[in-house]
Amino acid sequence: MGNKRGLLGIAGLERADIEALLRRAKDFQQPPGETASRRLNTLAGKMIVNLFFEASTRTRVSFEIAAKRLGADAVSISAQGSSVQKGESLVDTLNTLAAMRPNAIVMRHAASGAPHFLARYLPIPIINAGDGAHEHPTQALLDARTILDNRPALDGLRVAIIGDIAHSRVARSNIHLLSKFGVDIVLCGPPQLLPRELADLAPGVRLTYDMREAIRGADVIMMLRVQLERQHEAPFPAGEYFQFYGLRLEHIALAKPEVLVMHPGPINRGRELSSEVADSQRSVILNQVENGVAVRMAVLEWIIGD
Ligand code: NCD
Repeated sequence: MGNKRGLLGIAGLERADIEALLRRAKDFQQPPGETASRRLNTLAGKMIVNLFFEASTRTRVSFEIAAKRLGADAVSISAQGSSVQKGESLVDTLNTLAAMRPNAIVMRHAASGAPHFLARYLPIPIINAGDGAHEHPTQALLDARTILDNRPALDGLRVAIIGDIAHSRVARSNIHLLSKFGVDIVLCGPPQLLPRELADLAPGVRLTYDMREAIRGADVIMMLRVQLERQHEAPFPAGEYFQFYGLRLEHIALAKPEVLVMHPGPINRGRELSSEVADSQRSVILNQVENGVAVRMAVLEWIIGD
């Protein structure tokens, strides 16, 4: 099974593709307590290049681990220290990488649409690991996997996404994914970080500036980092932001009893959420990180498997 076109976003995927990827990711989850020693040969002899023009810990490392667990080689290149810094154009960098004949390129870039541009130029599948404020498809897949590890289905759930929605590719990919499953989605943040047009992105999306309203009756609360690197306005003082949009224990009582608290990371304690919430029984933040590997194994197999 292969998808030679790569994975640029969730918007272009069918619900059936998403379901197949999530089912396959489940096969790749490590049994509890087992260390990461299992290695498969599914992608033996294949190579992926990780090309990261923006900072990343979780995403880059988990793509590397995912490739290696499937027996592929993974090479990581960050924009700092590569010839990008010496002024090489994107196209030249990509042609150089293509000459190394990788089976896929995993790319993160600050510009929305950068991987789509690359995909038009190169005959190599491109996997979008985050493009500006546009999409971050593997994050939405691992978030869905994490929800489904705790709930029988996505259909009919109520998910609150809270924080800097305007600059969040995680929010956009999640909105696309969750709306394909009939999820009731509530977006919440301060007005300057919650543009009204977001309600038109997909069916089933509502907006509110009131955090309590967003959380009332929620099955899942997804908190987002304030993307200071994408904001050109004067940032909120951290204390003020936390007062209005920081998740605290008192909020949890408004949600469904077994509510899941999620965050794509990196988290800022005392800004987006309190330490008590981040470390509480309701938090599945580390399960998300763990699922990142399983989901990326499923994606790599789908795209470069025979
Ligand atoms: C997210 C990203 O880079 O978009 N992080 C991640 O991939 N885990 C979210 C963020 O940086 O806030």
